Amino acid sequence: MDTTFDAWAVRRYGGPNVLAPVTRALPTPADGQVLIRVRASAVSRADGMMRAGIPKWARPFLGFSKPRAELAGTCFSGEVIAAGRAVTRFQPGDAVFGEVGLQFGANASHICLDAEASLVKKPDTLSHEEAAVMCDGALTSWHFLTRVVQLKPADKVLILGGSGSLGTAAVQFAATLGAQVTATSSARNTEMLETLGASRAVDYRVENPLETGERFNVVFDTLGISSFKAAKPALLEQGHYICPVLGMGLLRDMLCTAIAGTKRAKFAAAGLEKPALHRTELAEILDLVKEQRFLPVMDRTYPLSDLVDAHHYVETGRKRGNVVVV
Ligand SMILES: NC(=O)c1ccc[n+]([C@@H]2O[C@H](COP(=O)([O-])OP(=O)(O)OC[C@H]3O[C@@H](n4cnc5c(N)ncnc54)[C@H](OP(=O)(O)O)[C@@H]3O)[C@@H](O)[C@H]2O)c1
Repeated sequence: MDTTFDAWAVRRYGGPNVLAPVTRALPTPADGQVLIRVRASAVSRADGMMRAGIPKWARPFLGFSKPRAELAGTCFSGEVIAAGRAVTRFQPGDAVFGEVGLQFGANASHICLDAEASLVKKPDTLSHEEAAVMCDGALTSWHFLTRVVQLKPADKVLILGGSGSLGTAAVQFAATLGAQVTATSSARNTEMLETLGASRAVDYRVENPLETGERFNVVFDTLGISSFKAAKPALLEQGHYICPVLGMGLLRDMLCTAIAGTKRAKFAAAGLEKPALHRTELAEILDLVKEQRFLPVMDRTYPLSDLVDAHHYVETGRKRGNVVVV
């Protein structure tokens, strides 16, 4: 039995080079906890923002002058190697995946977690790499398309940024929910968007689909590259502009559109929802995986020891789908 585990510390906010490898004593799970050997963990845009301490309005949650939780990483997949006496949902040997929220520490060889956290059993049909990224793009896009708005069959949806972690999941979900999907990316990714289910893939360097006169029920701006003001003329009556990247402009638009007008701007922090809702939404996504209607798109895989390189790559803003460390 191991007595120590490897992880990555973030002791101050900054670029990828602030990440430092650390070795810690392996904890013994308390009554309601499970100890998990991590097989793969995600390296997401959100992880990079938390490492950098941006946006600054998030620092009350993350820590004001430095990260409150010292370790890096939020989404992972692995297997339970020990369970506390009160744990009934899992037992040693179970393959599981989930996210640790503000506890952090998923980019590690082991993690100790409350069994009632955002943790579910991993089906054999998903690899640990695929399962590790489910709580980033998949869970977030599913939450936006089914909870923030309730996308309906035959709705027209425009996905700005279709080739990232959120985008590749959103294109698949919107298509499988029966919507008519237009999605943007650069030319190198348009073919992938069509394969994922977009009926129209637009090279954003050639055309701005918000300015063609076509109108949509939902504009999902997965990257925060547009605004409600720019999207409004392209929204049908009762249409929604939804975006997972919160800034002052979106906050103002949410407040204003909540009290006036028929078109709405909406944001949600999917990762901060209650674990019970996460587990429900993950079960819904796993049903789609089972029916072969959804699979996360995987980009690069790095060894855990190369987490800094993985962060540098994610920081380029050019990844396709998801990046993991194993
Ligand atoms: N609110 C929440 O709950 C929540 C949860 C998770 C993440 N987030 C946030 O969601 C955002 C998106 O994350 P992500 O991981 O999906 O991003 P990502 O994977 O890093 O996005 C990369 C992709 O964006 C494409 N792209 C870059 N510029 C573009 C443009 N102008 N138009 C269209 N596509 C463009 C790139 O394609 P090309 O190379 O083809 O340009 C690349 O494939 C992040 O800000 C993250 O922090 C929010």
